Amino acid sequence: MKTPPTIAPIQGKLGVLLPGLGAVATTFIAGTEMIRRGLAQPVGSLTQMGTIRLGRRTDNRSPRIGDFVPLAPLESLEFGAWDIFHDDAYTAASKAGVLSKEHLASVKDFLQEIRPMSAVFDTGYVKKLDGPNTKKAASKMELAEQLMADIARFKVERGVDRCVAIWCGSTETWRATTDTHATLEAFEEGLRTSSDDIAPSAIYAYACIRSGVPYANGAPNLSVDFPALQELARREGVAIAGKDFKTGQTLMKTILAPGFKARLLGLDGWYSTNILGNRDGEVLDDPESFKSKEVSKLGVLEHIFQPHLYPELYGKYSHVVRINYYPPRGDNKEGWDNIDIFGWCGYPMQIKIDFLCRDSILAAPIVLDLAIFLDLAQRAGMSGIQEWLSFYFKSPMTAPGLYPEHDLFIQLMKLKNTLRWMKGEDLITHLGLDYYD
Ligand SMILES: NC(=O)c1ccc[n+]([C@@H]2O[C@H](COP(=O)([O-])OP(=O)(O)OC[C@H]3O[C@@H](n4cnc5c(N)ncnc54)[C@H](O)[C@@H]3O)[C@@H](O)[C@H]2O)c1
Repeated sequence: MKTPPTIAPIQGKLGVLLPGLGAVATTFIAGTEMIRRGLAQPVGSLTQMGTIRLGRRTDNRSPRIGDFVPLAPLESLEFGAWDIFHDDAYTAASKAGVLSKEHLASVKDFLQEIRPMSAVFDTGYVKKLDGPNTKKAASKMELAEQLMADIARFKVERGVDRCVAIWCGSTETWRATTDTHATLEAFEEGLRTSSDDIAPSAIYAYACIRSGVPYANGAPNLSVDFPALQELARREGVAIAGKDFKTGQTLMKTILAPGFKARLLGLDGWYSTNILGNRDGEVLDDPESFKSKEVSKLGVLEHIFQPHLYPELYGKYSHVVRINYYPPRGDNKEGWDNIDIFGWCGYPMQIKIDFLCRDSILAAPIVLDLAIFLDLAQRAGMSGIQEWLSFYFKSPMTAPGLYPEHDLFIQLMKLKNTLRWMKGEDLITHLGLDYYD
C-alpha cells in the first residue's frame, strides 16, 4: 500500500470559486452563511456531520470526520463566482426560488456582496441561454488568461491563500472527445486557434488547473474529463474530480440497485421520468444538453448490475430516462421510477417510486463537501483524478481502463478508507473474524 501522505496544515482562508451562480451555487452559498450564523444545520454534509469509525468495533472510536482530518473550517470560506448574468447572489437566489424569502433575508447583506465576474460563454454550447456578462477575446487562450487573471485578483482582493473551483454552470451540449482533447499539446493549440471542440467549461478547468486550483465538475459535460486536462492536472500537481452531482433520481438508483443485486433479484426494466421547472430544466429541454445528462444517467445501472457477470438476471433489461421541463414546479422536481424486477422462478414484481425532491437542496451539501475534500486532497499532495470522491458524482471519473464504482455504499467505503489511509489508520474490511477467536 502507498505510504500515507503528509497533509499540509490549514493556513488562512479558502476561496471557493463557482463558474455558474444559479440555483445550486446560491443555495450552497446562502446555506453556508446561514450555518455560519447559527441559523441552520448542514444537513446532508459528510464533512460537517459525518463520523468515521476507527479501529476495532470494541474500541468505540467514531470521531467526527472534521475532528479526524484537518478540514478547512466553514468560517474560512470566501466565495467567488462567474456568470453570464450580472445578478448578485441575492438576486440570483431570489430568482432561483429555492430558499424562502425569510431565509434569504437573513443573509441578504452577505449575498449582495457576491457579484459574478464576467463569464466565458458560447451559445453553441448552451442553446437555451444568452446573457450580457461575458468576456471578449481574440482567442480561447486569451479567455483562459483572463480567467487566470480573475483568480489571481480574487486571491489578492479577498486575502485568500488557496482556492478550489466547482463547476455549477449550465449543462453544455454533448460532444464526443476529439484529437483536440487527446493531449495537452493539442489542447493548447486548440485554445490558440479557438477550436470549436473546446467548450467554455474546459477553458475554466484549464485556467483553474494552470492557477493551481483544484477543480470539480458538477455537470455531465466533459469539462475536465479528458486526457489533455488530466495530463495538465498531473503536471501541475492539482486535484480534479467529476462529473455530474449525484442527487435525486440517480441517488435513489445507486441506493436501490446495489440492494437488488445483493439479493440477486433480476431486472426487466427501469423507467425513470422527471418534471422539473428551474433554469436547469429549461437548459435540459434542449436535446443536445439533455444528451449529456442522458449519457451520464444511463451509465449507472450498467455498472452496478454488471450484466456480463449475471446474464440471466441483468442481460436484457430496458432502461429509459426522461426529463420534462415543466415550469410550475420550479426547483421542486418530481421524479417517478417504475422498476420491473423478478424473483424466484422468474415471478415478476414492480416497485414504484415517487420522489418529491428539491434539486438544489440535495446538491448544495455536495458542493460544500467537494470544496472541503478537494482542498484536503490538494494539501495532501494528491493530484489528478480523485476517485475517492466518486460518492458525489453520477458519472465518476476514473483512470483509463478502470470502470467507475457507482454503488453508493462502495463509494462511501472508498471515501472513508481513503481518509483512514491518509491518517495512517487501519482500513476497515468488515471481516470481523477475529472477534470470534
Ligand atoms: N441541482 C441538482 O440536483 C443537480 C444535479 C446534478 C447536476 N446539476 C448541474 O449543476 C449545474 C447547475 O444547476 P443549477 O440548477 O444551479 O442551474 P441554473 O440554471 O440555476 O444555474 C446555472 C448557472 O450557470 C450560468 N452559466 C451557464 N453557462 C455559464 C458559463 N459558461 N459561465 C458562467 N456561468 C454560466 C447560468 O447563467 C446560470 O446562472 C447544471 O449543469 C446542472 O445540470 C445539478
